[in-house]
Amino acid sequence: MDLEGKVSLVTGGSRGIGRACCGSLADGGSAIAVNYQRNKDAAAEVVAELKAKGGRARAFQADISDEAQTNIMIEQIMSEFGQVDVVVNNAGITRDRSFLKMTRDQWHSVLLVNLDGPFNVISALLPQMCDRKWGRIINISSIVAQMGNFGQANYAVAKGGMIAFTKSLAREVALKGVTVNAVAPGFIETDMTAAVPKESLDMVRKMTPMGRLGKPEEVGRAVRFLAAPEASFITGQVININGGLYM
Ligand code: NAI
Repeated sequence: MDLEGKVSLVTGGSRGIGRACCGSLADGGSAIAVNYQRNKDAAAEVVAELKAKGGRARAFQADISDEAQTNIMIEQIMSEFGQVDVVVNNAGITRDRSFLKMTRDQWHSVLLVNLDGPFNVISALLPQMCDRKWGRIINISSIVAQMGNFGQANYAVAKGGMIAFTKSLAREVALKGVTVNAVAPGFIETDMTAAVPKESLDMVRKMTPMGRLGKPEEVGRAVRFLAAPEASFITGQVININGGLYM
């Protein structure tokens, strides 16, 4: 239980990769703040599951792209748990369209959730991490940041920005005991990829050396590693979790 006594916030923690991160961090002994935007029941289910395994957890509503809502949520988490040691910036959206047809709104909405969201969360939590001289920030980027993808110029920009943000922030807070890393998953079986046409996913499977999509838990385990004491000298890195699709 290497995360005993720690508190982790996972944004968008009610399903998919976020849910798996909640589970893996709780398995390490961390208390979990499960952020959700709309699906209260799914978040309550995650909390119940973590509690059933003996963990400490609570759900917190906020649209992380909204600064005021995020600040209120962070206040609620601080009054419930007293601290946040690990932040997993997982919440994200896609609004896919070829660039010739992409609207300004599709461009901005993806940047607002996927980049301003982490900005809101990190800026609210970083001062207390620096004061306490311990913190782990883990950003869920994407293979699309590294390879690009048809119809995802907005998403690629946001996820690429997240990697650049990770490296810059890692340099700024390295002496303050805070590490900042990213993971870049390939194609993982979640609601997000369920929206991708079957033929495209079949093509991804063919192109992936391991011949399959990933599972949310396979991302969750890497996130737990980055949060754990074992990863104490790792900062500013991007861990690829993609079955070999991008090397
Ligand atoms: P998902 O769509 O199942 O989960 C995303 C979660 O984020 C949902 O719970 C959603 O409610 C939440 N969310 C969205 N906007 C929010 C907001 N404004 N405030 C709070 N919560 C919000 O997708 P999945 O696949 O679990 O994705 C999780 C993260 O992993 C995302 O950042 C995604 O971009 C990234 N990713 C996913 C990959 C995949 O193949 N599934 C591959 C690479 C990265």
